[in-house]
Order: sequence, then C-alpha cells, then structure tokens
Amino acid sequence: MDDVRNPFAPGAGNQPPELAGRQAILQQAQTILARVEQGRHAKSFMLVGLRGVGKTVLLNRILEIAEERQLSAHMLEAPEEKPLPELLVPPLRKILFRLVACRA
Ligand SMILES: Nc1ncnc2c1ncn2[C@@H]1O[C@H](COP(=O)(O)OP(=O)(O)OP(=O)(O)O)[C@@H](O)[C@H]1O
Ligand SMILES: [Mg+2]
Repeated sequence: MDDVRNPFAPGAGNQPPELAGRQAILQQAQTILARVEQGRHAKSFMLVGLRGVGKTVLLNRILEIAEERQLSAHMLEAPEEKPLPELLVPPLRKILFRLVACRA
C-alpha cells in the first residue's frame, strides 16, 4: 500500500474518507433534519459506544449535513465536570443572534 494514499489514519476525531457501516444512522439523521426543516417533531437520539468506536466523527458528519441543509447547528463536547447550561448558553446565544440577523 502506498503510504501517502493509505486511507487508514486512525486518531481521535480524524474524519475517515468513508464512514463505513454508518449509512442507517446517517439516514436517520437526514430524516430528523428534514422533519425539523418542516417544523415537525422528531425524536432525538444519542450515540453511545466504546472509546474510538466513531461517535465524534459521526457527530461531525451530522453537523456537516445540517449545515449543507442551511440549518443552524453546533457541535459541543460536554465534559462531566462542567455544568451543561454553562456549555450550552454561549453557542445558543450565537445561533440566536445569527437567526435574528437573518430575519432583519
Ligand atoms: N465508520 C467509520 N469508518 C471508518 N473509520 C472510522 C469510522 N468511525 C470511526 N472511524 C475512525 O476511528 C477513529 C476514532 O473515531 P472517533 O474519534 O470518532 O471515536 P469516538 O467514539 O469519538 O472515541 P472517544 O470515545 O475516545 O471520544 C478515527 O480515526 C476515525 O476516523
Ligand atoms: Mg470522541
């Protein structure tokens, strides 16, 4: 295998060239985002799994899909020791200001 073109480059959060075996989850995310676009309710879902199983790269791809659909989205890492509101408020504030600017 050519070392320069070898797609195997593991590392935390490194986006792989192909998200192997994740079509069903990505399709589920597309469906949820399409429902949200239409103002319909959608069930949220959690990605749970062992270390290195691919949660971060999937979330990154779902963020990209949302942005491709012109939806406002934010990727947030939440360490256990930090209160969730403290983590959520700054990005939500940013999104709200962006939405207000879009409507003006
Ligand atoms: N579906 C996939 N196809 C190919 N490579 C993948 C896939 N999912 C993850 N990987 C690769 O596995 C490695 C670990 O992925 P990632 O960092 O997303 O795991 P994680 O579940 O977030 O780990 P942690 O629990 O440590 O945060 C990365 O190098 C990533 O490119
Ligand atoms: Mg991770």
